Amino acid sequence: MPQLAYVNGRILPHADASLHVEDRGTQFGDAVYEVCAVMNGRILDWQPHLVRLRRNLGELGISLAIADGPLSLQARRLIAANGHSEAIIYMQVSRGTARRDHGFPGATPSNLVMTVRRFDFAQRLRQLDTGITVITQRDNRWGRVDIKTTGLLPNVLAKQAAKDAGAFEAWLVAGDTVREGSSTNAWIVKDGRIITHPTGTAILPGIARDSLITLARAAQLVVDERPFTLAEALSADEAFLTSTTAPILPVVRIDGAPVGNGRTGPVVRRLADLVWAEVARQTGWRA
Ligand SMILES: Cc1ncc(COP(=O)(O)O)c(C=O)c1O
Repeated sequence: MPQLAYVNGRILPHADASLHVEDRGTQFGDAVYEVCAVMNGRILDWQPHLVRLRRNLGELGISLAIADGPLSLQARRLIAANGHSEAIIYMQVSRGTARRDHGFPGATPSNLVMTVRRFDFAQRLRQLDTGITVITQRDNRWGRVDIKTTGLLPNVLAKQAAKDAGAFEAWLVAGDTVREGSSTNAWIVKDGRIITHPTGTAILPGIARDSLITLARAAQLVVDERPFTLAEALSADEAFLTSTTAPILPVVRIDGAPVGNGRTGPVVRRLADLVWAEVARQTGWRA
């Protein structure tokens, strides 16, 4: 089956799906995006993703002509057309196509593109046993990383540094505070308490983060949304990360040093049970 993409209302073969060279997303990173998990052909946490997309558009004053209902329909149409039951759907809205000029163009429609790519979620269950490693990098991003823009160069460089070091992720550290990963939220566990950086302007409010907090609290686990230091992370009992493409993964080493006993701990296992049960509840997906 050929790969298909959505561009401003049309579903096209991937190879023919493109935006104009003067798209503001390319020139200025003047665009926002979402990535959603598709499991068993169904989109996980679709509503929260839509809410975050709308909020980000509002923060940047980008208007999107298509309403939530038709947008959902188009997203589902594209998923069905691609025929993958396990996938990620990427949606990007830029401020539109206009002669290059920093100020906003006048009445220019935004550009909406969507792509779907097959994704193996079962690998994330296997990684629960092995755990993953992270390195640390200085957080040198701008001051509004709560807005999910395509301006991701610092994240790209941090992720590449992790790759070069043979690690899964780079945790971004500001002063001595661990904020989040280059594309994931960061967590530690100490004395049974689950700790993650609070939302605000310094982290992306992850959908997986929010979902995990809800699930953990419903299971009577204690979650503290507060900044934590790198020293705390290094002396934590357990650590983990969350994101749409990695709903929960144990972090067993930070900068080469083992976290706790260097193995997946009981709190992460308990949380993973809750997270994957929620995936099954929403989508019916099971490994
Ligand atoms: C910087 C950053 N933090 C956290 C996340 C996790 O967010 P979500 O759970 O919505 O995928 C992402 C996802 O791409 C991200 O880019």
